[in-house]
Amino acid sequence: MLTNADLEKMVETTDEWISERTGIKERRIADADTATSDLAAGAVARACRQAGIPAAELDAIIVATSTPDTVYPATACWVQARLGIAGNAAFDVSAGCSGFLFALELASNLVAAGTARRVAAVGAEVMSKVVNWDDRATCVLFGDGAGAAVCVEGDGRSGVLASTWGCDGSLAPLLYQPAGGTRLPTSLETLERRQHTVHMEGNKVFKHAVRAMSDSASRAMALAGVTMDDVRLLIPHQANTRIMDATRARLNVPTDKVFTVIQKYGNMSAATIPVALDEARDEERIRDGDIVVMTAFGTGFTWGASVIRW
Ligand code: UT7
Repeated sequence: MLTNADLEKMVETTDEWISERTGIKERRIADADTATSDLAAGAVARACRQAGIPAAELDAIIVATSTPDTVYPATACWVQARLGIAGNAAFDVSAGCSGFLFALELASNLVAAGTARRVAAVGAEVMSKVVNWDDRATCVLFGDGAGAAVCVEGDGRSGVLASTWGCDGSLAPLLYQPAGGTRLPTSLETLERRQHTVHMEGNKVFKHAVRAMSDSASRAMALAGVTMDDVRLLIPHQANTRIMDATRARLNVPTDKVFTVIQKYGNMSAATIPVALDEARDEERIRDGDIVVMTAFGTGFTWGASVIRW
């Protein structure tokens, strides 16, 4: 665990600044020898146990991540191997912090279409390995983690009721990792310039995030034919308490309907929503039949929202 007090010793920052500007108190950091697939495999195994389904019976594993184990193959392939299974489909979705909702949308539609019977959607990140630990504007924000959900054929009572998603690629340079791809391959120069780390114009991202997350949630709720009165819990992507609060205010949602874990984990990008979903269920903030709205925003820029009945 890395606390704000620990960060005070690493960069010029204070617990007060981080707490007030972001709501983060601590975050989890993976060991040096832990990769994204290790966390993701643990999350899939846990979700399968809870669903009462052996991992070997999954028809597909979809991993949402911006911090893959390797450029190729997909992290989902490493996850499959780590789970000791083979033969089922395994691929990644790259949609930044919106990634888990994109993966869930794919998983749910594969099952609804009859293409697959059981699909795991995973959000997993080891952000700590792509953060510039000398840049106080970004290094205090992120944490590592993973969460997963298994979509199965059901009786039509629970599942994804409606979703919306989108992207505006013209805004990509506001939040990205410049080097390591074919645009700017790894070289001594890119390493010296720390171009393999998160580059973000936080202020601009902030404004887009609030609008996109609230608009997406409204649209998905309209598509599902529900209002905020019907909703038990809103789980926004957890990048910043102020972003979540502004989103909540635009949606006219009371504070007690918003579930947050950012104080404990920081921004875990694609892992944030599934981890929050899991904790909300553990704490019995979600029960069978409840309607939950999840909304996210991330690099791309991408955005999306899903309304589910638990
Ligand atoms: O996951 C999806 C994508 N990411 C996000 O959604 C993140 C969106 N952005 C944010 O959450 C916020 O913009 C931040 C938390 C990143 C920054 O908060 P802000 O209120 O937008 O602060 P700022 O960037 O405008 O910086 C304000 C001041 C600056 O000092 P000056 O220029 O006013 O003297 C920064 O240098 O705060 C300074 N600062 C810090 N001070 C202490 C920046 N980082 C730190 C720090 N500790 N860690």
